[in-house]
Amino acid sequence: MSFPDIRPRRLRRTPAIRRLVEETRLSPAELILPLFVKEGLTEPRPIGSMPGVVQHSRESLRKVAHEAVSAGIGGLMLFGVPEDANKDETGSAGLDPDGILNVGLRDVIAEVGDATVVMGDLCLDEFTSHGHCGVLAPDGSVDNDATLQVYAEMAVAQAVAGAHVVGPSGMMDGQIGVIRKALDRAGHQDVGVLAYAVKYAGAFYGPFREAVESTLQGDRRQYQQDPPNLREALREVDLDVAEGADMVMVKPALPYLDVIAAVRDRVTVPVAAYQVSGEYSMIEAAAANGWIDRERAILESLTSIKRAGAQITLTYWALEAAHLLRTRY
Ligand code: PBG
Repeated sequence: MSFPDIRPRRLRRTPAIRRLVEETRLSPAELILPLFVKEGLTEPRPIGSMPGVVQHSRESLRKVAHEAVSAGIGGLMLFGVPEDANKDETGSAGLDPDGILNVGLRDVIAEVGDATVVMGDLCLDEFTSHGHCGVLAPDGSVDNDATLQVYAEMAVAQAVAGAHVVGPSGMMDGQIGVIRKALDRAGHQDVGVLAYAVKYAGAFYGPFREAVESTLQGDRRQYQQDPPNLREALREVDLDVAEGADMVMVKPALPYLDVIAAVRDRVTVPVAAYQVSGEYSMIEAAAANGWIDRERAILESLTSIKRAGAQITLTYWALEAAHLLRTRY
């Protein structure tokens, strides 16, 4: 019988020693809370496929922004949901200073100022009657270059509303460069760009589509990336960094940890990951069935995303995770 000389288990024996040697440690400051604000609501409205997440009214949005600051959350990513009557072919409500997203940005900035980083989703899908992320060509495809012009205006509108950072999520070619130039030309040199550089056309956005009342028929495979491709993701990242992205994002997160790791190795700008609606709802649904320990699964998933290389994570659990982390040890 031979016994081991080296015993890794020594470092796992008590909670204190495990804590001492923990390699990856989450903090609220690296989490971004995505928030939905719905035009015309007087009360927050639950989203059926995302238990615990709501469409906010303007008033409840301000309240949750304040809570996020108290919890030390690193940032907020705002999505606007217009009334159906305000959706049109070109998504003009996204550019309108009185459109719900720009109103929401102004409200949040008025509430929290510079105490956290306030970001706006820069995409047309919530505002178009057809639900695509851009404007359509006569043949029904998304017209890349016509969309860029709209994004340029939308970026400036969000900057004027007070956004610290804009988050272009439409996967149009050249969007980062066009947005950067438009911001600079309008005197918003200090407004940053968090590029959704790598966004896969996967199956995990389902619940989000309910959250924003998406009208999309079909899919986004002509602009978002194909899930099997990693090298293509690096190409997208290189382009976005060259065009001036201040931070790059990989989305979704958990099914794409290899992509997060590869992007992290490749760039020197901060790397973010988006734990998307489907990732959230899977864990919530399993926990509701008693099949999984909810709180442990939340922290384990977030830790994995960070371990893979994400310095920043967008998660619908940001507030709850902040509370869990505070009481963890
Ligand atoms: C597009 C956008 C989407 C998400 C964020 N921005 C939806 C899509 O690409 O269809 C998804 C986020 C999530 O699923 O949590 N504006």
